[in-house]
Amino acid sequence: MAEKNTFYITTPIYYVNDKPHIGHAYTTIMADVALRFHTSINRTKSLMTGAGEIIRSKKVNNVEGLLMTGTDENSLKTIQAAEKAKKSPEEYLKEMNDIWFDTWEKLGLSIVRSNKKESFIHTTEKRHIRAVEKLYGLIKAKGDIYKGKYIGLYCVGCEAFKKESDLVDGKCPDHKEALKEIEEDNLFFKLSEYREKLLEYIKTNPDFIKPEKRKREIINYIKDEMEDISISRSGDIKWGIPVPGEKDHVFYVWFDALINYISALDFGIDNDYKMKKFWPGTHLIGKDITKFHCALWPAMLMSAGLPLPKQIYVHGFFTLNGKKISKSLGNTIDPLELSEKYGNDVLRYFMLREIPFGDDGDFSIKKLEARYKGELADGLGNLLSRTVTMIEKYTENKKVPFKTIYSKTQNKELRFNEEEVKKYYENFEFDKVIKVIWEKVDKTNKYIADTEPWTLFKKNKKEKVYEILWNIVNALVYIAYYLKHIMPETENEIFKQLGIDVKNNKLDINEIQKAEPLFPRLEDPSTGSGQDK
Ligand code: MSP
Repeated sequence: MAEKNTFYITTPIYYVNDKPHIGHAYTTIMADVALRFHTSINRTKSLMTGAGEIIRSKKVNNVEGLLMTGTDENSLKTIQAAEKAKKSPEEYLKEMNDIWFDTWEKLGLSIVRSNKKESFIHTTEKRHIRAVEKLYGLIKAKGDIYKGKYIGLYCVGCEAFKKESDLVDGKCPDHKEALKEIEEDNLFFKLSEYREKLLEYIKTNPDFIKPEKRKREIINYIKDEMEDISISRSGDIKWGIPVPGEKDHVFYVWFDALINYISALDFGIDNDYKMKKFWPGTHLIGKDITKFHCALWPAMLMSAGLPLPKQIYVHGFFTLNGKKISKSLGNTIDPLELSEKYGNDVLRYFMLREIPFGDDGDFSIKKLEARYKGELADGLGNLLSRTVTMIEKYTENKKVPFKTIYSKTQNKELRFNEEEVKKYYENFEFDKVIKVIWEKVDKTNKYIADTEPWTLFKKNKKEKVYEILWNIVNALVYIAYYLKHIMPETENEIFKQLGIDVKNNKLDINEIQKAEPLFPRLEDPSTGSGQDK
């Protein structure tokens, strides 16, 4: 069992028949936010209240976190894409690996560690092959593997066998491609033997699969549809991990891919300290791959006698004009182009704000720019720049006014409910985190309008003005603090402009630093309406 104070979060490993699109970025960014939240130092208490100390550490949250992502390379799609690119599979994979890793690096995600291998797995690696062989050995020893013949339809897009009832007009509804008829000798895993055990496990662990609607779907699938599953391919398929002791068989790509979550932790070697430290972990996946993760994978682990994942969170899709954004449908959007134009924080904000966790959401530049203008530039950006300007105008030393006594005047409307925010973060409900934060942004802007510090200043009521400024800054400090897992660069910039240095939990109030707006006017907004300030 995992050590206390560790947090292991995984994304699915991505197919490499193309570069990442925003759907993939959505999953990986969410995992990054979760990692940042779980491993951050908890210092929310005593903000702006202690004399001479703005931020006092209440509890240092020494959680060691690990985010694992990677690429799923033993798929037929890999070979097809390599052939299309006129490259050898090895050459093609090397290129794609770099593209995927570089994308995450450019998006500023915390998978980028000193040692790339620590947070990125690819399934043609030795450590992965070793783990697959070991897990297969355990499942086989349990008596859960048998030989049989597979006759049926296969969708390369899904890398899955299909039933007639799954099809629309004889085609896979997701990939719209004709299916391949297959008749070959396969090895089968006795998945159906785990029906009762899986149902029992889901029942006794109500938080295992989230959200509820996905859990219900999976329960129905396990009850009514789940059958034994072919775990090898033979015949003309040569690409894949060879099945030990079975000439002409390679593992079915999903059987090998799921094992990445533990091969990345060195499962299969004697000194598997990472496995002991981090497993079981939390999986974050899209709604199209729930059967594999919530039924097959747990059953494989049960068979091998290993602990099941801690939790599986299932998110919805980004769609474009109502259609899933996907490589197969050719309607992809490059996250790097968005990040170059709007910045990483804006991309993170938009993705997480736009889709309530578990639902689908339609992507459009128009929506992104509307949120940019309304919520970011006119909301938070404006709040910060007004505050900095007021401090500049109304104080002599151009510093945030600070006296312990001001905390007694704290405006209750501007206060956060810490437990609420934490709960939302824990449940991946980042859209709700953002909503709560923006309620405070709006209230703080309203507080400024209502209290009219400029009028009080004219009337020479300086102490009152300072008290109000303290209240505004206090609100902004909390806003930045709660936003930092979602918008890390914005948090830094807010503190910088306010002249507040929070390094090492020590307060340093310096002169404010007037700077460019947090969210500058967009040069060429696609809405064509310009960006007022
Ligand atoms: N290789 C498998 C996963 C194996 S995990 C052991 C796979 N790869 S994928 O590249 O097709 O998709 C990876 C993830 O990206 C899935 O969780 C999928 O739901 C997600 N997304 C792909 N397109 C998406 C959107 N348009 N929107 C949101 N997420 C989407 O499946």
